[in-house]
Amino acid sequence: MKAFPVPAVFPPLPAGGIPLTDLQREVLALKKAKDAIILAHNYQCEDIQAVADYVGDSLGLAYKAAETKNQTIVFCGVHFMAETAKIVNPTRRVLLPDMNAGCSLADSCPAEKLAQVKATNPELYVVAYINCSAAVKALSDVIVTSGNATKIVQKVPANRPILFIPDQNLGSWVSSKTGRAMQLWPGNCYAHVQFTPAALLRAKAQYPNAPIVAHPECTEAVRELADTVCSTEKMVEWSKAQKAETLIITTESGMIHRLRREVPHKTFIAAPTDRCSCNECRFMKMNTLEKVRDCLVHGKPEIELEESIRSAAEIPLRRMLEWSRI
Ligand code: 13P
Ligand code: SF4
Repeated sequence: MKAFPVPAVFPPLPAGGIPLTDLQREVLALKKAKDAIILAHNYQCEDIQAVADYVGDSLGLAYKAAETKNQTIVFCGVHFMAETAKIVNPTRRVLLPDMNAGCSLADSCPAEKLAQVKATNPELYVVAYINCSAAVKALSDVIVTSGNATKIVQKVPANRPILFIPDQNLGSWVSSKTGRAMQLWPGNCYAHVQFTPAALLRAKAQYPNAPIVAHPECTEAVRELADTVCSTEKMVEWSKAQKAETLIITTESGMIHRLRREVPHKTFIAAPTDRCSCNECRFMKMNTLEKVRDCLVHGKPEIELEESIRSAAEIPLRRMLEWSRI
């Protein structure tokens, strides 16, 4: 009989947390000396999250990047997130510790392909998940994140047919929540689609009292097994609100570092896939603390954007930031 991976268990952190290493202290000193701020996504490694000034989801990071006064933003996340920081705050220097940190979703929607679709369907209102390139944002009408997608889609003029890009899973979830029909771009997150109903049911059999949260990038069959579906940021509030002491987290496992700090007394179970106990995004994990230190020392790799693309991409992004507040 095939042996399936056992889910990884993350018990409460020891009192006082994890002590800082010499490398972490070096990064903190460099950050101060270089007038830099470190913004980190919830999926980053624990040692990076621990030295970040702000750890959050794509939406929180976009707001934080827009209001940053520091000369340099070290963006610990993937390329489209660092680009977003540059789009909304172009006078700051934005560094990405590893320039190869991409995203399978962003790659699934090349700007030239979207331009072709728009040329033959000019009536479409393009709602773009923030997981796309600056060139794709520049062709879109409004941007969404998993944290605000339902709210934003409800504000799209009712007489316009929507093309939702590039995540078909997030798109189908938003469509079911809002009742709004949408054409879905055939893209997905290679990491989130590895969660399967069978793997989740095995985890549930092992922890029958543990409620399940899933990210909307998971397939519909997986989302249906979850007690709730939400963005990474909302997973923090959800975890705090649960009566249960053990929770199953169906997203990239870096999320659990954030949860362990913010909800210290609970035990988190990383939802397994059929092949691994702990699902990681290989792009998010390209950033390491050594690379964070090196980018602070050398002032590169730096995000650079053509101004025509940046300014065109800023319009739908600002629309999102405004619509998200009201
Ligand atoms: P969040 O906006 O929920 O953080 O998700 C970003 C992402 O890339 C999920 O894979
Ligand atoms: Fe992209 Fe998926 Fe990685 Fe998020 S987890 S950055 S959607 S590849």
